[in-house]
Amino acid sequence: MSLKESSNRDGFTSKFGILAAAAGSAIGLGNIWRFPYVVGESGGGAFLLVYLSFVLLLGIPVMLSEFVIGRKSKRNTFGAFKKIAPGTLWPVIGVMGIVAAFVILAFYSTIAGWTLHYVYLSITNGFQGRDTAELTLMFEMFQTSTVLPVIWQLIFISLTAVIILSGVKKGIEKYSKILMPFLLLLLIALSVRSVTLPGSLDGLVFLFKPDFSKLSSSVILGALGQAFFSLSIGMGALITYSSYFPAKTNLSNTAFEVSIADVIIAILAGIAIFPAMFSLGMQPEMGGAGLIFMVLPNVFLQIPGGYIVSIAFFILLAIAALTSSISIMEVVVAFLVEEFNMVRRHATAITAIAAATVGLFCTLSWGALENVTLGGRNIFDVLDFTASNVLLPLGGLLIVIFVGWYMKFTEVKDEMSNQGALMLKFLGLFRFLVRFIAPVAIAIIFLNAIGILRV
Ligand code: PFF
Repeated sequence: MSLKESSNRDGFTSKFGILAAAAGSAIGLGNIWRFPYVVGESGGGAFLLVYLSFVLLLGIPVMLSEFVIGRKSKRNTFGAFKKIAPGTLWPVIGVMGIVAAFVILAFYSTIAGWTLHYVYLSITNGFQGRDTAELTLMFEMFQTSTVLPVIWQLIFISLTAVIILSGVKKGIEKYSKILMPFLLLLLIALSVRSVTLPGSLDGLVFLFKPDFSKLSSSVILGALGQAFFSLSIGMGALITYSSYFPAKTNLSNTAFEVSIADVIIAILAGIAIFPAMFSLGMQPEMGGAGLIFMVLPNVFLQIPGGYIVSIAFFILLAIAALTSSISIMEVVVAFLVEEFNMVRRHATAITAIAAATVGLFCTLSWGALENVTLGGRNIFDVLDFTASNVLLPLGGLLIVIFVGWYMKFTEVKDEMSNQGALMLKFLGLFRFLVRFIAPVAIAIIFLNAIGILRV
């Protein structure tokens, strides 16, 4: 096959492969690394409730909108808007998506690199005999060092590039299909252990009992950002993936199933973390980006067979990160291949090198570059905030306006129903959500958080 895939585009094959690829994109560090620490910093139960409502009312409609745009146009995130809305400014959404993909890839690979280091530490029995304070210190020394985290980050970006190079079908589908069920089982096992530790009940109360006094405009924006980041929406990763879906894929069911799976994994990660934290006497808002790396080794040390469990856990987390990072890199690579006629190999190399360059600054944010800050945030946090809480929600806002107001309703309906082959139960609801609820809600959350509007 020619490496230039313009007319003869590669695509996904089986129904399970599609679900696994989309769920593989959604389920990743966002659920297991980001969700617990954002919940911890945002006060627990009330945040969870807001987050869940955002997934249902805003996330699923945005995801389905991306599927409609992607499969209808069969193009990358920029080309999709150019094809459906030629001669307009709509492709700007694609440009924003490509910028977001870049930024996310840069900081995502930092955390994925930490995960690889923790695979290594697990294998070499690095947690053995250490108490909570020592495990925390061990993490902080690693996090602030200069060489090792960068090496792991480069290894991770290279792994992502290798999978991207083997093409959509062979690469993405194959890797996404295997091993995800294992991650689920392991998280269940960890959750069981976490809730049976002494003093763990307070952790469950923290996670599930809403205290609405903890909500503020920035916490609500944070919940929106977390929902979008975790579902992989707002930058066209799912436009790109759905451009490879076959005509018979049921888009609504896929959006629903992927979102539910994503939420389940995030909540399980919360159950694995918070009870254990309270049992260890740690404060939920304490860990920051290092939270899971400080807490989970303690749990592994208290599990029968903890050595094997910790190796398995970090390997599976690294794989979950990989199936997400390929969906992020594919946004940029598909764009370069289709819009600039670039060979896939060159597009991948350019993307990987550029992401590694920006990524370097993210990785050094706690060490060599710790003094470079903006409004009290280090480089990593600035990039994470900009991508997750600004670019993704803004992209999502424009995407629902595009589907709800620009596209003809019959076009949207034809795409969702596979040209009339499927019965659509929630079409009216979907239309209402994308036209009114989602755009208005996202706009209000935004304006409220930046202080233009006060509600
Ligand atoms: N959803 C992924 C995760 O939860 O780890 C991260 C991600 C992938 C964000 C793809 C955005 C994206 F477009």
